[in-house]
Amino acid sequence: MNKKLDADFWSDRYSNKETGWDIGNVSAPLKAYFDQVSDKSISIMIPGCGNAYEAEYLLANGFTNITLVDISPLPVNALKEKLKAYDGKQLHIICDDFFNLEQRFDCIVEQTFFCALDPSLREKYVDKMHALLKPGGKLVGVLFNRSFEEGPPFGGNVEEYRNLFMEKFIIKTMEPCYNSISPRSGSEVFLVLVNKDQLG
Ligand SMILES: C[S@@+](CC[C@H](N)C(=O)[O-])C[C@H]1O[C@@H](n2cnc3c(N)ncnc32)[C@H](O)[C@@H]1O
Repeated sequence: MNKKLDADFWSDRYSNKETGWDIGNVSAPLKAYFDQVSDKSISIMIPGCGNAYEAEYLLANGFTNITLVDISPLPVNALKEKLKAYDGKQLHIICDDFFNLEQRFDCIVEQTFFCALDPSLREKYVDKMHALLKPGGKLVGVLFNRSFEEGPPFGGNVEEYRNLFMEKFIIKTMEPCYNSISPRSGSEVFLVLVNKDQLG
């Protein structure tokens, strides 16, 4: 795997409309999760946000502290226009590499970001998620529970994910996703991982 998965790679995908990952709406598993969160003031960050339908849903439902991050200026500029009523208030939109972030959040949302990164970065992803979450903060989202011939997307499986996350996170939920969109049905796991730092 020698593709350089940098900002230009992703910008080319957006320019050429090769965005097969984009489901055009808030992902059902994440919507179900958001619907049971009662404190709408928690800080939520979505890395590799793309067109960020999840953010639109959160904002429309009263969440007040959302940060979006993407390495490609194309979706970022489109979001700044589409969500300008919220930008700089309830919403912060950052064009940068996720690995450069330094704030801390209560919740980070995973939606086809992990699978977009070169698998050699998986341990670094876990360390960075751990560093970006407040003690007790949660990484919530979906991961593919299948392999792909050539990525991105890069697949994986539950055993690999347990081994990756268990040192730094309490694995609260990692189970087959019952409400995936039909093309992904049976091939995703839903996760809620809690930053172990809460244990002191
Ligand atoms: C497969 S797309 C998913 C987009 C969106 N989450 C969705 O589900 O529609 C992966 C996204 O991650 C972004 N990305 C890739 N590497 C990144 C990095 N290191 N930091 C921030 N964003 C990154 C890409 O620009 C792209 O928008």
